[in-house]
Amino acid sequence: MSLERSSWKSNFGFLLAAIGSAIGLGNVWRFSYMAHQYGGGAFLVPYFVALLVAGVPIMIIEYGLGHREKGSSPLSFVNIGKKFESLGWWMPVVAMFGIMLYYSVVIGWCINYFFYSFNLAWGGDPQGFFFNQFLQLSDSAADIGGIRTPIAAATLFVWIMCWFICYRDIRHGIEKASVIFMPILFLLTIILVFWSLFLDGASDAIFNHYLHADWSKINLLSADPGVRSEAGKVWAAAFGQIFFTLSLGFGIMITYASYLPEKTDIGKNAFITCLVNCLYSFVAGFAVFGIVGFMAQSQGVPFEDAIKGGPQLAFVVYPQAISLLPSMNVLFGVIFFLMLVIAGLTSGISLIEAFACAITDKFDWPRGKVVTVVCVVGFLGSLIFTTRAGLYLLDIADHFITNYGLVIGGLLECLIIGWILKATVLRKHISRLGTIIPPFWDVLVKFITPVILVYLLYLSLAGDLAENYGDYSTNQLILYGVGSLLVCLAVALGLTFAPWNPEKLKRRHRPEDDELLT
Ligand code: PHE
Repeated sequence: MSLERSSWKSNFGFLLAAIGSAIGLGNVWRFSYMAHQYGGGAFLVPYFVALLVAGVPIMIIEYGLGHREKGSSPLSFVNIGKKFESLGWWMPVVAMFGIMLYYSVVIGWCINYFFYSFNLAWGGDPQGFFFNQFLQLSDSAADIGGIRTPIAAATLFVWIMCWFICYRDIRHGIEKASVIFMPILFLLTIILVFWSLFLDGASDAIFNHYLHADWSKINLLSADPGVRSEAGKVWAAAFGQIFFTLSLGFGIMITYASYLPEKTDIGKNAFITCLVNCLYSFVAGFAVFGIVGFMAQSQGVPFEDAIKGGPQLAFVVYPQAISLLPSMNVLFGVIFFLMLVIAGLTSGISLIEAFACAITDKFDWPRGKVVTVVCVVGFLGSLIFTTRAGLYLLDIADHFITNYGLVIGGLLECLIIGWILKATVLRKHISRLGTIIPPFWDVLVKFITPVILVYLLYLSLAGDLAENYGDYSTNQLILYGVGSLLVCLAVALGLTFAPWNPEKLKRRHRPEDDELLT
C-alpha cells in the first residue's frame, strides 16, 4: 500500500474545510443562547478572551502538530512517545462515538424540518409538534421506546452523504464538498441575517438583549461573593464554548493539518479559522435575536419568555416565528433548515475523518473500506438516538462528553505538547513557516491554558456532584453519561493496544529538536 499522503489542493480549500468543521449547529443555537443568558454584549468579553487565551493557542498546537508529524492524532502522539498514543486515540474516538453518533441524528432532525417547512407542518403548536408528534418523546430516559422511522431514515441519509464525501481522498472528497458547501452556507446566513434585521421588533431585541451589556454578569472582581461565583460560571462557559465551537480537542484539526504541504503559514491559518468561526457566531446572533424579538413583539410576550436554548431554539422557537412571518414563511423555513443541514454536515464529515484517518494511519487499510465500515457502524450506533428517548440520551451524552471528554483531551494535549514535546520546539517549527509565534505562547500552553481547563473541570464536577444534571436520575446519568465516557475509553484503549503497521512508525527522536530548544 502506498504511504504517500494525499494533500489539499489549495490552502483556501483547507481553510474552508477547517472553518466548515468549526461552524456547526453550535454556532447558531449554543452561542446565541449563551450570549442571552450570560450578560448579552458583556459575554463577548470572556468569549474573546477565551478565544485569544485558549482558542487560538490550541488551534496553533493542533495545526502545528498535524503538520509536523504528518499524521492523524494517534500517529502524531505516538511520535512524541509510545505512552501518549492513548490520548491520540481518545480524541478521535470521542469525536466519533461521543459526538458524531448523536450529531448525525440532530442533522437528521434538521432534514425532517427542512421538508416540514414546505407546508409549515408544525401548525399552531410547534412545541407539541416537536415533542409529541415528531420525537414522540417517551416519559423518561429509562423508557427507550421504538425507533422513529422518519428520524432514522434522515439519519441514514446523513451517513450516506458523509460516506460519499469522505470516501474519496481529502482533495476530491472533503475539500471539494467544502468548496461547494461553505459559500452556500455563508450566502444563506447573510440572507437570513438581513431578513431578520428588518422584522418588526428585531432592532429592539438586538440592542436591548444582544448588544446591551450587563457587566455584573462577568465581574470576577465584585465584592459580592455571589456575583463572583456566578461570574466564574460565565467565564467557564465561555471557555467551554470556545473549545466546542472551534472543534478543538477532537484531533480533527490535527488530522486536517496533516494534509497541508510542507510550506504553509500555520499561525495565519489558525488565526483566520478562529476569527471567521467566531465572527460567524456573532453575525448569526443578529438573525437569532432579530427573529426572536419579532416573535416576542407579535405575541406580546417579554423577550425572556420567547427565547429558548439548545434544540428548542431551532425546532420550537424558529418554527413558531416562521409561522408568524407576514410573507414568504416557507422560503424562510427552507433557508433556515438548509443552513443548519449544511453547517452540520461540514462538521460531521470532519468528525468521521478524524477517526477514519486515525484507523488508516495505524493499520494501513485502504481508506475507502475504512470509511465504509466506519459509516455503517456509525449509523447503527446512532440508531439509539433515533428512539423515543433519543432527546434525553443525546442531552446526557452531550453534557458528559463536552464537559469532560473534550476538556480532558484538550488539557492533556496542552500538557504533552507543552512539557514533553516542548512548546518551544513546536513554536519554532511553526514560526519558521511564516507568522512568528511570540514566546508568550509557551507560557499559555504550559501554564495558563491548563490551569483554566483544570478549573473548568472542577466547576463541572462540583456542579454535577452538587445536583443531578437536568431532571435525570443518578442511575440514568451514570448509565448514559459516565457509560458513554467509559465506552470511549474502552475503544480508545483497545485501539491503542492493537499492533501498528510497522512501516507507519517513524523515528521517535529527532536530533533537530535539540537544536530548536537552544
Ligand atoms: N464546532 C461544531 C459546532 O459548533 C461542533 C463540532 C464539535 C463539530 C466537534 C465537530 C467537532 O457546532
